[in-house]
Amino acid sequence: MPIKRIAVMTGGGDAPGLNAVIRAVVITALSYGWECFGIRDSYDGLLEPERYREGGVIHLTRESVRGITHLGGTILGTTNKGDPFAYPLVGANGQVELTDRSVELIRALRQHQFDALIIIGGDGTLSIAYALTQNGGPPVMGVPKTIDNDLAQTTVTFGFDTAVSFATECLDRLHATGHAHSRVMVVEVMGRNAGWIALEAGVAGTADVILIPEIPYDINRVAAKIKKREEQGHHFAIVVVAEGARPQQGTVSMVERPGGAQRLGRIGEKVAEELQTLTGKDVRAVTLGHLLRGGTPTAFDRLISLRFGAAAIRGLAAGQRNVMVALDPPTVRYVPLAEATRQIKLVPLDSDIIQTARELGISLGD
Ligand code: F6P
Repeated sequence: MPIKRIAVMTGGGDAPGLNAVIRAVVITALSYGWECFGIRDSYDGLLEPERYREGGVIHLTRESVRGITHLGGTILGTTNKGDPFAYPLVGANGQVELTDRSVELIRALRQHQFDALIIIGGDGTLSIAYALTQNGGPPVMGVPKTIDNDLAQTTVTFGFDTAVSFATECLDRLHATGHAHSRVMVVEVMGRNAGWIALEAGVAGTADVILIPEIPYDINRVAAKIKKREEQGHHFAIVVVAEGARPQQGTVSMVERPGGAQRLGRIGEKVAEELQTLTGKDVRAVTLGHLLRGGTPTAFDRLISLRFGAAAIRGLAAGQRNVMVALDPPTVRYVPLAEATRQIKLVPLDSDIIQTARELGISLGD
């Protein structure tokens, strides 16, 4: 069936480059003579349309996407609490109940007569997209987004380069103040399951210690590295820790949200407290957190975002269905969604970047 009408949505945590993808999708779709719509806040615009004054589904024109390439965030809005298969609704007892609203969502998509959906998201969002295609939803074209860079089948996701560049700049700044005060600076960065941001920013920013989820750490070894520096006359140190890092004899660090839900948090502060005790040095912890998700996409991220957006439409026009666009330098290819979401991409322990870190004398805590 020829495509005439498509919708685009952004799902999960935002990443720099989302707006560039949306712009490329809309301009390219218009060049094929297709009509283009945006769904607000992932699928909320379809499931809860009454929440939106201007409608949960908006018509996207050339004007809607003018001047947004360099903007962080997403003009469509996003949520990581909008899984249509487990949608949080407040029940009669006042408690939040996870409800399957996928049938309702697919019905709404049909009513809008979308011939295909462009779904821009990470592992979670693309897995949901795949499940929708298996349950009678419209054809999907996925676009790989996440600052964590943990999507398999694409060399890199957009948003990652911006996050690494900003984290590296922060490490440069922390070097200056850490050096001035002869302190240990512990820097927590995002990275739930994969330590890509910590590792790449840590190496680029010449950290002394990098702790990632893939390599459980021994805090005594981290302290030993700092003491050794001290003996060598270097009275400051930079420790980068991914939020999902965990000690060899322990678990990841969790904090409780109001309402009782748990989320990752405070690993930087915990590491800092332990290092202060073990080394006797003055230690400070800084959490970069969502600063890594905001801001202007780097030129690299803008370019791959625009390439992904254009390739998404080009692929649909060429008959690609239920696939994800993937960077495979020097080109962009299409990977079946089932394959793209089978497993996440962790840092391989035998990779060149791990080897480089070790060769440069960086402690990985093991
Ligand atoms: O996009 C993934 C991520 O950056 C994770 O590293 C982090 O755990 C998560 O987003 C936090 O998202 P939020 O605070 O929006 O729930």
